[in-house]
Amino acid sequence: MAANADNKPRVFSGIQPTGRKTLGNYSGGFRQYAQTQETHDAFFCIVDLHSITVEYDPAELRDSTLDVAAMLFATGLDSERSTVFCQSHVTAHAEAAWLLSAVASYGQLGRMTQFKEKSDRHEFVSAGLFTYPVLMAGDILLYQTDLVPIGDDQRQHLELARDIAERFNYRYGETFRLPDGKFPEVGGRVMDLQDPTSKMSTTLSSEQGAVYLTDTPDTIRKKFKSAVTDSGREVRYDPKEKPGVSNLLEIMNVATGEPIDALEQSFDGAGYGQFKEAVGEAVVTLLAPIQERFEALRGDERELQRLLAVGAEKARRASEPTLEAMYERMGFVNAGPGRLFGAARPRGL
Ligand code: TRP
Repeated sequence: MAANADNKPRVFSGIQPTGRKTLGNYSGGFRQYAQTQETHDAFFCIVDLHSITVEYDPAELRDSTLDVAAMLFATGLDSERSTVFCQSHVTAHAEAAWLLSAVASYGQLGRMTQFKEKSDRHEFVSAGLFTYPVLMAGDILLYQTDLVPIGDDQRQHLELARDIAERFNYRYGETFRLPDGKFPEVGGRVMDLQDPTSKMSTTLSSEQGAVYLTDTPDTIRKKFKSAVTDSGREVRYDPKEKPGVSNLLEIMNVATGEPIDALEQSFDGAGYGQFKEAVGEAVVTLLAPIQERFEALRGDERELQRLLAVGAEKARRASEPTLEAMYERMGFVNAGPGRLFGAARPRGL
C-alpha cells in the first residue's frame, strides 16, 4: 500500500449531515473516527452536497451541517491532525462529479439498489438522486484514498467508484488509486432499545428506542429503564436467545470499555432493573463531556466555521493535483496563469 509523507494509509469517510445522531452512530461512527485519526491520514467530509438529492429543507440542512461538524469535534476529532470539512466548501467535489460522469455508465447507475429503493419512495425523483454515486466516487478518488470505512449498504457504491476509476485510468491514463472498503464487523452494533432485533436508527427507530447523543441525562435514564429485556433473569451475552440483554451489554462495553465477559460477571445475580439502571448511568457518564463540548462549539458558529475553513483549505490542497490531472488528461485547455496543469503530481503518481 502506497502512503503519504507520514507513511500512513489515507482514509476517507463521508458523513451525512442529516438526522439526529444516535448512540449507534457514536459506536459505529464517531468513536471509530477518533481512533482512525491516530493511525491514518484521515479525511472526514460532511457530505452536504449529497443531501440535496432528496427533498430537504435548506434551513435544516444548514443546522444539521453545523450539528454534525460540532459533534465530530466534540467526539475527539482534531482539526490539525485530521482533515474535517464540508463537501460544498471544496469545489473540486462538484467538478469531479461532472468529469467522472463521462466514465460512469448510465446502465450501472440505474442498477444501484439505493437508487431503486429511494426512487420508489419519492414522488419527485431528482437527476441528482441518480448521479449520487458519481459524486461519491469523486469524493473518494480525488484524495487517492486507500481505505473507505462504510456501511454494508454502501458496498455497491464503492464498487461503482472502483469501476469508474478503472475506466478513467484505462481511457485517460493511470490517474486514480483504487480504494478498498472497510466494512463494519458483526457485533458491536447498537440495536434499538425497544426492538433489539433491529438496528438503532435515526429514521426507523421510535423515540424511545433510540438514544440521541444530545438527549438529556434524565431522558437517557428513562430510555434505559424502559428498555426491553428478555425472559429469564440472567445477565448473559447471547444475541440469539437474549437480544435485549446482549444489546445492553454491548452498550455497556461501548460506554465503559469493559469486556463483555467481565460485565457478565459483575452483574451476575443482579436483577434486570439494576442492570438497566447501571447501563443508563454509564451512557450518561460517557456522553456528559461530549455534550459539554458539543454545546460550547455549537453555540460558537464563528469558531465552528473557522475550524471547517482549516479543513477545507487542507482538502483543497490535497485534492487539487488530482483534479488538475483529470482536466489535463481529459483534454481540457489549461486555464492560464495561476492554473498550471500538473504543477503538483497527484499523491502516489
Ligand atoms: N453515501 C454515503 C452514505 O450514505 C455517504 C458518502 C458520501 C460517503 N460520499 C462518501 C461515504 C464517500 C464514504 C466515502 O453513508
